Formats: sequence, C-alpha cells, structure tokens
Amino acid sequence: MTEPAMRTQISSTVRIVLGLALFAGLVGITVAQVRLDVPYVPTPQDVVDRMLDMAKLTKDDFHIDLGSGDGRIVVTAAKRGARSLGIDLNPDRIAEANENAKKAGVADRVTFVQGNLFELKIGEANVLTMYLLQGVNLQLRPRILSELRAGSRVVSHAFSMNEWEPDQHVNVNGRNLYLWIVPDKAEGSWQAESGGRKFTLNLKQAFQKLTGTAVRDGKPAPVTGQLNGNSIELSIDFGGQPMQLRGQIKNNAIEGDNLRATRS
Ligand SMILES: C[S@@+](CC[C@H](N)C(=O)[O-])C[C@H]1O[C@@H](n2cnc3c(N)ncnc32)[C@H](O)[C@@H]1O
Repeated sequence: MTEPAMRTQISSTVRIVLGLALFAGLVGITVAQVRLDVPYVPTPQDVVDRMLDMAKLTKDDFHIDLGSGDGRIVVTAAKRGARSLGIDLNPDRIAEANENAKKAGVADRVTFVQGNLFELKIGEANVLTMYLLQGVNLQLRPRILSELRAGSRVVSHAFSMNEWEPDQHVNVNGRNLYLWIVPDKAEGSWQAESGGRKFTLNLKQAFQKLTGTAVRDGKPAPVTGQLNGNSIELSIDFGGQPMQLRGQIKNNAIEGDNLRATRS
C-alpha cells in the first residue's frame, strides 16, 4: 500500500470498541475509542524475511516491531532465536499475534504489548522494525537516534526518514526496504594522532555523515567521513594524497590502527 492510500484509510478514523460489560441485569458499556496512527496492512512473509536479513538479526538480538499487527515480524524474529517484542494499539491484533506465536512454538521468546508505540521505551532494542508512515517515522527519528545504542539496526518497510539517508536501500518485489545503522556521536573537537603526527579534529555530524577540518602545524585541511555505528572513517586532505583514517569510538576516545584521538 502506498502512503497516500494509507492516509486515505486513516482519515476515515479507525475506532475500536474495547469492551462491553453486562452486570446484575443492567447493561454497562465500556467504550474506549482508540485512534490508530497507521492502518493495518501486513508485510508479506518474503519481505519480512528480507527485512530481518538486512538487519542481520541473530539469536543474541533484542528486536522490537513497532505496530506489530498479527505479529508476523516478531514471530519470524523469534524463530531465528532472537527475543522479540511487538506493540500494537489494537487489542484484536494483539490477540491474533499471541495466537500466532503459540502456533509457531515461540511464545516463550515473544512479548506482545497492547499500547501506543509512541509511549514504548525502545532503548533496550538493538534491532527495530517498522511498517508505519513517513510522518510517524519522522516523529520517531529523534528518539531512535538518542535512545538506541550506536550500532543498532533499524529497518523500515516502504517509508524513509527523509534527510537521514539509509545505509542500505533495496527493492523487493516493488517494495522499498531501508536499513539504518544508528551512528555514534562524533561531533566536536578531538586531539588526534596518526603516524606519529598530532593534529586537532573539528567535526560536524549530520546523522552518519561527518565534515570538518583538521588542523596540523597550524594549517587547516578539509575532512569528510562516515560513521557506521561506532566505527569512524575519515578522509583528510593535508595536501598531496588524502589520508584514510579508521577507528572505533569508545568512551570519548577513538582507537584504530592509524588513528587515535581523545575529546578535547
Ligand atoms: C501497517 S501495519 C504493520 C503491521 C506489521 N508490523 C507488519 O509489518 O506486518 C501498522 C500497525 O500499527 C498499528 N498501530 C497504528 N497506530 C499505532 C500506535 N499509535 N501504537 C501502536 N500500534 C499502532 C496498527 O494497528 C497496525 O497493526
């Protein structure tokens, strides 16, 4: 389903009647009206498989599917050995999902929560999947970047995150799938050393992309670079051949074969 088609479905306001109670001959009706942010449209199983392949999901991962529908992504993740959690606002979907997990024999590795995805703490997950809407992805984007640990993988079916370009984009049977690796934080000033020569790095960060300057012997040189989780790769042009420097960010330091730095 395309985003405009999804929006049309949403605009016809989806409402769910939650409860009906009969007590002592009186009819008491409990009605909780819940407005869904995204209509229910399931992801085909071959696309689910591909999403989890892109995330390189393993048994050591904790996966969350935001807006989990009938639980197919959660159940597939659990079949691959991961612990997995799904959240959906619609209680009918949660009932279906629990039933599907039982049938698949993975009930012990999954949790389904009936609730609002905007209220879920997501920081424990290191794999996040979503089939939501562009606007919902954009609302979630700052939380994904600040709450998930560097290196966590996020896969979205159909919808991108605008300026946060994906680290991978594939098309499966006409469906767009996007993967992002949550980048570490590298913005700021670093005292660096490479090949025995010291320099100051001043980095600007836009999602996983880095730009800035390196100052060596009082002379500035342009820097471009990229983050992949906590792996940092920089290209610095001091004149002559641009240098390719690589390292890992850990505890406010960068350690690598040809790059060492500490925050200044
Ligand atoms: C497009 S479906 C995706 C289902 C499943 N993830 C899949 O890919 O097969 C979106 C799901 O999000 C749920 N949903 C919509 N708004 C929500 C909200 N605010 N919090 C939690 N779930 C929500 C809907 O009930 C629906 O099941």
